[in-house]
Amino acid sequence: MNTLLSASAASQPGHGSDSISDRSGQVLAIRGGRPLTGRVEVKGAKNLATKAMVAALLGETVSVLRDVPDISDVKVVRSLLEVHGVTVDDDGEGVLRLDPSGAVSAHMEEIDAHAGASRIPILFCGPLLHLLRQAFIPDLGGCRIGDRPIDFHLSALRAFGATVDKLPSGIRLSAPQGLHGADITLPYPSVGATEQVLLTAVRAKGTTELRNAAIEPEIMDLIAVLQKMGAIISYEPNRVIFIEGVDSLRGYDHRCIFDRNEAASWACAALATDGDIFVGGAKQQEMLTFLNVFRKAGGDFDIAEDGIRFRRGGDLKPVVVETDVHPGFMTDWQQPLIVALTQAHGTSTVHETVYENRLGFTRALNQMGADIVVHPEGIASDERRVPRRALEQAAVINGPTPLHGADVVVPDLRGGYSYVIAALAAEGESTVRNVEIIRRGYEKFLDKLTALGADFDVIG
Ligand code: EPZ
Repeated sequence: MNTLLSASAASQPGHGSDSISDRSGQVLAIRGGRPLTGRVEVKGAKNLATKAMVAALLGETVSVLRDVPDISDVKVVRSLLEVHGVTVDDDGEGVLRLDPSGAVSAHMEEIDAHAGASRIPILFCGPLLHLLRQAFIPDLGGCRIGDRPIDFHLSALRAFGATVDKLPSGIRLSAPQGLHGADITLPYPSVGATEQVLLTAVRAKGTTELRNAAIEPEIMDLIAVLQKMGAIISYEPNRVIFIEGVDSLRGYDHRCIFDRNEAASWACAALATDGDIFVGGAKQQEMLTFLNVFRKAGGDFDIAEDGIRFRRGGDLKPVVVETDVHPGFMTDWQQPLIVALTQAHGTSTVHETVYENRLGFTRALNQMGADIVVHPEGIASDERRVPRRALEQAAVINGPTPLHGADVVVPDLRGGYSYVIAALAAEGESTVRNVEIIRRGYEKFLDKLTALGADFDVIG
């Protein structure tokens, strides 16, 4: 096997710690069997930073966003903003300066060319309608973890008074008379649809009432961003959010909330490899549910001022987990957790209720020696969490099963992360392909693996 760059070589003088991450490395050769130990830092949340960048379009003055992760999802949103005339300066240390004063309509093909594999473009609708009275949003990308419709988004935009036409390559929207407040009840506390309503209502004429809203910490952080801009937003404990539209908004200066999903991913890596990982920047409050499950699975953690230390507290134990909206167990956490549960002594169950196809990644884990059975009909339940969803899925994981190396292809962001961790927990060598997808959501991923003592080569 021709080794272009070995992890250990990269850490030699002259290879700069960033050189690995900057390589386009699509394929890793990973030698497993070594615990991951050391410290990683998590920056701002992928699922907040990208939305706060879109919010800058609503301001009449410059916005500054801090702790922005260096990931491809941020790059996609940056180029979409620039295509619309927003100037975005990056100080190279995670601080973005966004100036919307030159915002203009963009051409359809330019938008299409920059939309990438992201779902964020759909959130440009409201801000562009306020700014330009019209918008074109290309068909969305994003992880293939379900059919990921946008019906909640489109019905919300129509409730605000927008005309929405479905074209073969995307949706065209117009609101020549501007947008007015709306009374919207979401069929499901959708994160994206809640963000859609927030980013549209803040500048609509009149008041908007949103019921059955998502209340994830990233949503609350977006509300904080919008309030800094001059928006008037209040919320009640029963998922009801009120927004009073205002005539204008100014720029914000905001430090992103930390990335809970990345923090939980490294915690599961510590469990799966019997390692000991300190995750700098992780905070207990936003991870309470995860920490409970982590402890029940046999993990141990110490909360420090500047982060959380994660490690095994003895043999891993089986757990029964059902994914849910916040404050439940996040669907983004189940994939790395399942890798750890392959090493638990007993039978675990993970019931995925948010997406209809987010357990497909377990097939590759079984190739590596895991014993996971997926029940596509989920667990008998007289109600389905997400309307329209025919199926939920349940994974039954029997452990402990020793894992061995295999040749696997990354299917999506969190599944891909899980494959790498499984390869690091396995005996022998694995080839993991299409690793580029992981860089959509994990900043300096390969550098962090190197810092934790992972033994791998970038081979393609
Ligand atoms: C966000 O996706 C996150 N992505 C996801 O993280 C996360 O898993 C998800 O929220 C749930 O927390 C970003 O923020 C970029 P939803 P989003 O709208 O907004 C259905 C990751 O790994 N639905 O809450 O797309 C939908 O099909 C990613 O970082 C409709 O039916 O999630 C799904 O079954 C993966 N119609 C459920 O609701 C709609 O119009 C939850 O989706 C919208 C959603």
